[in-house]
Amino acid sequence: MDLLSRYHHALATLREHRQDHLLAFWPDLDDAGRARLLDDIERIDFEQVAKLIDSHVLREPPLSLPSDIAPPDILPNEPAGAKQKQQYAAARARGEQLIRAGKVACLTVAGGQGTRLGFDGPKGALPISPIRNKPLFQLFAEQIRNAGNLYGAGVPWLIMTSPTNDYATKAFLEANKFFGLCREQVVFFTQGVMPAISVDGRVLLESKDRVAVSPDGHGGTLRAIYRSGALERLQQAGVTVLSYFQVDNPLIHPVDPLFIGLHDQARSQISSKTIPKAGPVEKVGNFCKSAGLPPRLMVIEYSDLPEKLAYATDATGRRLFDAGSIAIHLFDVDFIATLNRGGFALPFHRAVKKVPHIDAAGKPVQPDKPNAVKLETFVFDSLPLAERTLLLATRRDEEFAPAKNASGADSVATARAAMIARAARWLEAAGVAIPRQADGTPDATIEISPLLADSAEQLGGAILASDVRVPPGGLLYLGAATEL
Ligand code: UTP
Repeated sequence: MDLLSRYHHALATLREHRQDHLLAFWPDLDDAGRARLLDDIERIDFEQVAKLIDSHVLREPPLSLPSDIAPPDILPNEPAGAKQKQQYAAARARGEQLIRAGKVACLTVAGGQGTRLGFDGPKGALPISPIRNKPLFQLFAEQIRNAGNLYGAGVPWLIMTSPTNDYATKAFLEANKFFGLCREQVVFFTQGVMPAISVDGRVLLESKDRVAVSPDGHGGTLRAIYRSGALERLQQAGVTVLSYFQVDNPLIHPVDPLFIGLHDQARSQISSKTIPKAGPVEKVGNFCKSAGLPPRLMVIEYSDLPEKLAYATDATGRRLFDAGSIAIHLFDVDFIATLNRGGFALPFHRAVKKVPHIDAAGKPVQPDKPNAVKLETFVFDSLPLAERTLLLATRRDEEFAPAKNASGADSVATARAAMIARAARWLEAAGVAIPRQADGTPDATIEISPLLADSAEQLGGAILASDVRVPPGGLLYLGAATEL
């Protein structure tokens, strides 16, 4: 279709939904600008947007929680009793077998905007390791390489970007030669976007030739991986398990044989890891189950969990709703395909944010207070769609230290401290003496390369404790022979 026909087509749609201001600057644009604007407009489903304006922008959608919320069933971090020990040992062996057989792939969701962090570049490029300053992407790549060395199989690594950071993300990984992975092992796909909508229901323009959009949330992964063809490629390669994690957690264990084996034993469609919450109202999602038949696992956001439940305890005083969500999941690959073939839809959540835009006169506006609604779906909202799920407890200090903020809680500084603390624990478990300060924190800066070990167990087999000395206040980097 030529530009003019596309224009008339777009104008009709926009008029129908009272969004024709998006074409107000048409006369000011050259052909390239007009094409850019039409590309943006044609990517938006205005019928869906109109419904969402009504349900999520002009009003807050009512909170609809099941009436029968109960605490979820959780497999313990350490097996309890002989029978469970046996089950975990068999699961670990099964997990290893699946990795060796090339049935496991990793998926990093890296399409977010990282506004809180304020880092200039994709979040995965953020230097984070305590001594070598390795960026997050390098830590993941090295763990994937480590799994390849351990199990003799190349684990594919999928990275979800958004239209905003796709180019920069690819350029960063290419410039760094994929941190030692084969180029073919790394598969990119791009998530969808949603328009930013003013609180009075108008889709905003970022400039005269661009609609203001933002990524459609990590829930967008499940559709984007299918539509991009990446899921089909996994299926053709025989991959059955997808290990999902967020780009900002340097403590992640992306290839965890025990978790993978337990997931497989249970024929689970979605499995998740959970940690005990730091307090009743910690700002993490809460795993809960709806006790009806069939029972369904779900995550209720901290802001939506009724206070009565957040503070509820059992007869011994233990918190009932204590299963925090840390965005670590395993997905059954066929399950994602089935969801897509069935035309699934995840609910939208609204966030009122400051969105720069241009006004009716074409002048740039930098809002000083939240002015627009962003609409996102969340990946954990797929949990209730699964018949078979599994929840495994893990330790916060082993697997969760997100770098969300520039400073304070959940920042680069706290993530680094957690990396050092974990390295110190692994070394102690291997028999190395660690100098500690009065408050118990390690009195040294320690970094263990994922190419050397990604667990205490592997580290124990990789070093001779008598060869390692950690001087008080000193620096210790332990790497693999290949990188030194
Ligand atoms: P966050 O909710 O922390 O959002 O994303 P964010 O965009 O990184 O940061 P803020 O809120 O703007 O400060 C959690 C994970 O989900 C991914 C992020 O890249 C991160 O790994 N994500 C989030 C996506 O991939 N797409 C999205 O649309 C949103």
